[in-house]
Amino acid sequence: MFYIRTADKLQRTARWLEALPGGIDYLREVILDDRLGICASLEAQMQELVDSYFDEWAEAINNQAMQERFKQFANTDEGQPPMEVEIDRGQERPVMWPREDEGGSAKAYFKGLRDKWSSTTWQHVLEASYFKGADDLPNGISASIKRGDTQLAVWRIKGKYDASQQMCPHKHTFALSDGLVGTEPSASSCSDATLPPSPPRTPSSSSPSTSPPHSPTSSTHLTPCSSNPQGPSPYISCPFHKRNFSLTSGSCKNDSELSIATFDVEEREDGMVDIRLPPVEEVDRELETKKWMVKKGEAGEGQFGDLDDLNKRKGMEGKKGRRGRKPGTSEAGREVGKKLVESVGSGGGGCGGPRLEW
Ligand code: FES
Repeated sequence: MFYIRTADKLQRTARWLEALPGGIDYLREVILDDRLGICASLEAQMQELVDSYFDEWAEAINNQAMQERFKQFANTDEGQPPMEVEIDRGQERPVMWPREDEGGSAKAYFKGLRDKWSSTTWQHVLEASYFKGADDLPNGISASIKRGDTQLAVWRIKGKYDASQQMCPHKHTFALSDGLVGTEPSASSCSDATLPPSPPRTPSSSSPSTSPPHSPTSSTHLTPCSSNPQGPSPYISCPFHKRNFSLTSGSCKNDSELSIATFDVEEREDGMVDIRLPPVEEVDRELETKKWMVKKGEAGEGQFGDLDDLNKRKGMEGKKGRRGRKPGTSEAGREVGKKLVESVGSGGGGCGGPRLEW
């Protein structure tokens, strides 16, 4: 408790002790001899901490209402794998990102689908009560829903609904509903509209008891645009590599080759949220999960092969109790490491360098 009360934020105990005037001898005097006369208080504080501790994740598992918030889809108990898995070194892992020569990004003109559907009808998808409290949160509440074999994302942000495909076309991930919400002024009416959108804030870790699981994090520049009659224009930033998609036009703001399909959404008087959707088969033909999910063949052979070969050549594989040299510290290892990073990290663009987006 003395450490908790006196250490700096994120300061490890070893560094704290090194910086403590008098070091371990002083600490002994404080704790064992009660030199400062605070031991009773420290004990009471520790007891309070112990008494108030509970396992937040166990609580989430045992609480039915809380479990509901962690379902993959808000409108059904069905699940759907978002990618295939493969075995590497005896362990299961998701397939790597799709390779560029195997399709890489999905560059279909998704935003143009809005004008191509043969017909659309308003359809109930979710009870509006799911979004209860969204307007009290600066970032609103989002939902992932399943319709046919297609995943859709729905948001309620500041009293307004938006909907789009769930799949981010950059690397075929199904995660847009978990993205970061941003808003920027309309290009036509705001003096600062020529500025590029600021990067959204990185979300902080959430605990199940304090944070709605589908409450997206907003960008830091929720700039009001008083002269824009439509109000500010929202965009969603994919949580993986921060491609920013307009929720009104579907355009990608930082990758002109990408776009997403968007849909009209309205809340009805009967308490349901409706989306204007084309027939199921038509949406599935364009957006179904099994069509776009990353499959084994698209990710290429296991990218750890070169590293494993090197280890085998150096006779390190299977040896216990002896640590091999860290890959990349020899000339040959450096070459393999470089190839490994290049083969895995072909995300490109968004956040940080073009290679290390994995
Ligand atoms: S997968 Fe969405 S930005 Fe890369």
